[in-house]
Amino acid sequence: MSRFADALNDQVGNEFAAHQQYIAIAVHYDAETLPQLAAHFYQQAVEERNHAMMMIQYLLDADAEVVMRGVEAPQTRFVDDREPVALALAQEQTVTGQITALVQLARDESEHSGEHFLGWFLDEQREEVASMKALLAVIDRAGTDNMLLVEDFLARTGGVTAAPPSMPSPAAAGGAL
Ligand SMILES: [Fe+2]
Ligand SMILES: [Fe+2]
Repeated sequence: MSRFADALNDQVGNEFAAHQQYIAIAVHYDAETLPQLAAHFYQQAVEERNHAMMMIQYLLDADAEVVMRGVEAPQTRFVDDREPVALALAQEQTVTGQITALVQLARDESEHSGEHFLGWFLDEQREEVASMKALLAVIDRAGTDNMLLVEDFLARTGGVTAAPPSMPSPAAAGGAL
């Protein structure tokens, strides 16, 4: 397997790990009866699953082996209702670093198609870091004793947003959910 395909397989695992972590966060908020926050993270989890399936479609098309690597167990216990979003922001910043390193590897290995494929993910990470920062700012403004204000904000505005990627998303194996 090429170094790039091997690293992309690692990233498939990272995206599935992010999927699991977001489900854990959604479940935390669901158990607290904070349905807007729960819905936000259930949706984020689906997006991470789709990212993994886009990478799998790329590997299939590149005739590279797809290796389903195991994922670390997510964090499921949180000290308060701020910690899950702080963790989510840190996770998005980590993934941005992972995607940037993949782009650099593609460049070093002259994997031009792979580098092009990753362009959408760079854009996606910019959006995800920006919107998660905005959500953390909303929680800090309300305070963790006033999570219903956060719920109100999300219900009223339809959720925190940032500019979406400027290009269409890559195809996902089996179709995006
Ligand atoms: Fe992702
Ligand atoms: Fe993400």
